[in-house]
Amino acid sequence: MEKYISNIKAPKISIAPMVDKSHRHFRYFSRLLTKDSLLYTEMVTAQSIINGDRNKILYFREEEGAVALQIAASNAEDAYKAVKLANDYNYTEINLNCGCPSDRVSGNLMGAALMSSKELVYDILCAMKEATNKPVTIKHRIGIDGTGVLESEKTKIIMDGYDDLLDFLDTVSKARPDRYIIHARTAILKGLSPKDNREIPPLNYDMVYKLKEEFDYLNIEINGGFRTLDSIKEALNKVDGVMIGRASYEDCYLLSQLYKLNENSEVVAPTSRGEVIKAYIPYVIEEMNNGSSVHSLIAPLQSLFQGQKGSRKYKQLLSSSNIKKENLLEIFDSIFELMPSSILWENN
Ligand SMILES: Cc1cc2nc3c(=O)[nH]c(=O)nc-3n(C[C@H](O)[C@H](O)[C@H](O)COP(=O)(O)O)c2cc1C
Repeated sequence: MEKYISNIKAPKISIAPMVDKSHRHFRYFSRLLTKDSLLYTEMVTAQSIINGDRNKILYFREEEGAVALQIAASNAEDAYKAVKLANDYNYTEINLNCGCPSDRVSGNLMGAALMSSKELVYDILCAMKEATNKPVTIKHRIGIDGTGVLESEKTKIIMDGYDDLLDFLDTVSKARPDRYIIHARTAILKGLSPKDNREIPPLNYDMVYKLKEEFDYLNIEINGGFRTLDSIKEALNKVDGVMIGRASYEDCYLLSQLYKLNENSEVVAPTSRGEVIKAYIPYVIEEMNNGSSVHSLIAPLQSLFQGQKGSRKYKQLLSSSNIKKENLLEIFDSIFELMPSSILWENN
């Protein structure tokens, strides 16, 4: 394994790249809850950066703070061009997606399917590093099962053990990525939807912990199934970071507690749910007036009262059939009237 000690100063916690979820409104909202975490964009293909409406795809507001751009690429040339173009935006780091099992992505040897060709991953990472001075990181699985997908490729299609993972990383580490974010599940590339691929292959944290134990100079962040402060705390004793995915939109108030994991945090107490909504309203109005869709602006709020009294009514108020540009402010007023004030203004 290449002994590269990155001087990356990344937060211990990150909020995962998630297509259709981690868009810029979600990130703005998440930032109101967590000052210390690194926020990822949705996956963006290199081709769309090169050929698409770049500013629309890459623009983000300064208030979002530290944001990592995740790209999906199938070759070094595209990756190089895309990262060069992304340098014009203030991303904190650039990440390569080697974890997404979607057919659409794996069919092009992108995402998790890239793991079947460690040399290609090496080439892409080298191209990304050449294109930017920012940290370049990789998000991958502990293995892949490509049965029935990649027979036409002269590549290894099943990697399902620790030795296979080491073999992959032995080559990839030579490109000197600054951090490895490892989703602790094998990706099954055929016959399983992306959703099932986040549920059915079992989590294997031990493989990630063993890797960190053996190669402590690698900067390793674990991902998969982290939903509580305690479980994150426990993992942080063994690896450098934890990435949170679904919990960030299924129980978003968890994010307000994350400062407790950072001994250097400037935050001293969580912001109450009511304060979070109040801080988000001016943004909603501004963005709505600039043409953003009401639905995507409201989506990040959905789980704010998860597990609390009144949560069901709150969700009904925010349901898309109720919400229109014209009545949005009234809906916010109703939230403040409806929700028990102990829950609205309590900060724990
Ligand atoms: C709706 C959704 C979209 C996702 N999109 C991406 C993506 O664009 N890039 C990526 O690397 N992973 C993507 N993932 C996977 C997550 O980043 C994460 O690895 C996975 O959800 C496991 O973490 P969790 O158990 O904390 O949710 C997505 C997950 C979800 C739920």
